[in-house]
Amino acid sequence: MIITTGDRPLTEVAERAERLAKQLGVPYVPRGNQSMSKLLTRCGGEEALVVLLHGVRLLRPDRPQLQFHPSMGFVRAKRILKGESDPLLEAAGMVPGDSVLDCTAGLGADALLFAVRGGEQSRVTALESSLPLYALLAAGMAHYDSGISEVDAALQRINIVNSDHVDYLRKLPDNSVDIVYFDPMFREPLEDSSGISPLRPYANSDSLSPESVTEAVRAARKAVVLKEKRGSGEFSRLGFAEQPRPGTKTSYGVITIDQ
Ligand SMILES: C[S@@+](CC[C@H](N)C(=O)[O-])C[C@H]1O[C@@H](n2cnc3c(N)ncnc32)[C@H](O)[C@@H]1O
Repeated sequence: MIITTGDRPLTEVAERAERLAKQLGVPYVPRGNQSMSKLLTRCGGEEALVVLLHGVRLLRPDRPQLQFHPSMGFVRAKRILKGESDPLLEAAGMVPGDSVLDCTAGLGADALLFAVRGGEQSRVTALESSLPLYALLAAGMAHYDSGISEVDAALQRINIVNSDHVDYLRKLPDNSVDIVYFDPMFREPLEDSSGISPLRPYANSDSLSPESVTEAVRAARKAVVLKEKRGSGEFSRLGFAEQPRPGTKTSYGVITIDQ
């Protein structure tokens, strides 16, 4: 992966891109006046993270570009702020102040919901194993302006970590986080999932391992939650009780921790 900027960047943006490259240990390639496709070819066809004044994009030749945007997460976050319920938070039994480990950050939409519900006293950590997606999320969240201060503050509170979740979970002490959440790439993709399809070329598509679930149960105080396609065999394979949600294509499965 390389990091660059848009055309004729402001000094501030070029400096931000260079800092991010240093932090991630990947090359910073000044954009100069090259077209993006020339630059991508010159850099061996890898991913390029393009830092812009008000956003960040991930590109790869022949792949649709991916832009950071909390999308449906933003709509749901606004509903939570109005005091409405949300199916994920209900399944997790989350109350303000609970700490959450989101093991599959993606574009951070679900992590945003946890951070909004959790409030200032909660700790939300979101893990992403794909370096390009981690970089997109970290750079995107740091400078995103949703126009709603509570949403922006919640985005800033999320601690994003570039790690495979099993490695991270193994190091956690027993009963050290209230809720652990998994939303892996579905075994059978939903055909009309416009939110997740653009992510797929960049994402880790491994199935969730029984070891990850065992470690999550050990580390959790209240619940471990899995999102999957409705009726997926993953729920029974991994020991989750699927919670029926009539009229939806996805379900949450829960392992409740008895203390
Ligand atoms: C379906 S997406 C998650 C979407 C996310 N819940 C959201 O709201 O945007 C799954 C993400 O988990 C990441 N992932 C898959 N396996 C992982 C692992 N073992 N450790 C960390 N991240 C993983 C993928 O790279 C992908 O970005």
